[in-house]
Amino acid sequence: MSNFDSDALVFLGATGDLAYKQIFPALQGLIRDEGFNLPIIGVAKSGWTLDQLKARAKDSLEKHGGLDQQAFEKLVGLLRYVDGDYNDPETFVQVGRELGQAQRPLYYLAIPPSLFAPVAENLAKLCCPGNARVVVEKPFGRDLKSAQKLGRTLHQYFPEENIFRIDHYLGKEPVQNILYMRFANPNFEPIFNRDHVRSIQITMAEDFGVQDRGKFYDEVGALLDVVQNHMLQVVANLTIDPPTGEDHDAVRDRKAELMRAVRPLTPDSVVRGQYQGYRSVAGVAPGSNVETFVAVRLEIDSWRWAGVPIYIRAGKMLSVTCTEATVEFKRPPRETFGELAPGSSAHMRFRLSPDLVIALGVRVKIPGERMVGHDVELELHRQAAHDLPPYQRLLGDASRGNTELFSRQDLAEAQWRVVEPILGNVTPLYSYQPGTWGPEESAQLMGRDGHWIDPVVQSLNQ
Ligand code: BG6
Repeated sequence: MSNFDSDALVFLGATGDLAYKQIFPALQGLIRDEGFNLPIIGVAKSGWTLDQLKARAKDSLEKHGGLDQQAFEKLVGLLRYVDGDYNDPETFVQVGRELGQAQRPLYYLAIPPSLFAPVAENLAKLCCPGNARVVVEKPFGRDLKSAQKLGRTLHQYFPEENIFRIDHYLGKEPVQNILYMRFANPNFEPIFNRDHVRSIQITMAEDFGVQDRGKFYDEVGALLDVVQNHMLQVVANLTIDPPTGEDHDAVRDRKAELMRAVRPLTPDSVVRGQYQGYRSVAGVAPGSNVETFVAVRLEIDSWRWAGVPIYIRAGKMLSVTCTEATVEFKRPPRETFGELAPGSSAHMRFRLSPDLVIALGVRVKIPGERMVGHDVELELHRQAAHDLPPYQRLLGDASRGNTELFSRQDLAEAQWRVVEPILGNVTPLYSYQPGTWGPEESAQLMGRDGHWIDPVVQSLNQ
């Protein structure tokens, strides 16, 4: 099923962390599973040779997902390397030489965001006159203004349908399953609205720190690293109106509409935290006020969702590694059985990582004479981590020109509008101990709406 209509892949940042952890494994997967057969031109400024890049690819595959000898040999056969500075036009002239007759290359910008605009410009002007596509890593801009500016720069050289703003959460099987469950069944959609839903909460917990990404992370923090993008995309999947039509824009239209209705955050709807020890991570400024934990309360000003609070918390160095969304339904309008402590309300739970779980929480009667019950959870579906790694899915889609699972300029801007008022570390920063659920202050954010649901991680065998 090799239906890639790009005719070369240029990936900038070839010696970097993302290439090492994600892109080489994705390329091996595309070659092995999908007959990917395009010239692959790595570009970086590291003073490396092609052989060093091949050795790096081998090491990457051995550490991330496993090396498949046959596919690896094909990969190194396709691989070329251009070593050069991104500010030097000669680098792009060389890339152009490597591209030869290619008319539709795919440029993958796995480079620091500050370089997106100049590099896109150099690629478009100096490399290939054809109909190129460009994949841009997150964050797309630093705020609304810079995202708009970046959009304008990219649009000068690439039409919107050739721009792929990547958010790897969209390539995740469990994230897609939220949409699928909602719209492939008749029973959930009628209750996903303010009449039935009391609140929604999403926890993205990681039990590790910022590792060797101190410099990158200290420029973004949890809000821009995962909330402005991954978490808002999950919110969108949980709350959009049913899409109509089947083209690439059907879902993106609904998402853009939804995101425009999300009320911009205010300082009192945010709690930020920083784990103890963060400031001594290499690359982090000694007095850094950047958050490694953030909790927010969102509201959607739409007919469907008005008044339903949506809570998101995301953090590093928490108790477990797990991402989970829970939709809590309202209590019945009347306590028919007069129970004094009628338990929790019904809920629907979507576990997005480390495995996929979809579960329904309901109340059932305890056997006996009295009409008294307890809470049980029905697990509708459980499946091990996604088969297709998100980067493989997304790189394959981009090479085929399928924009469906990528963000769009209007959507990216709407996401920035949500976080814009709280950018720049304007709210207090609370310290928390590694291995906890973040600063205690995050509990207060919920007020009378309830409490955070801490995901419990069990292995699939339990
Ligand atoms: C990335 C963030 O986008 O997503 C990381 O930069 C985070 O900080 C990662 O750890 C989480 O994604 P996944 O797929 O590993 O759950």
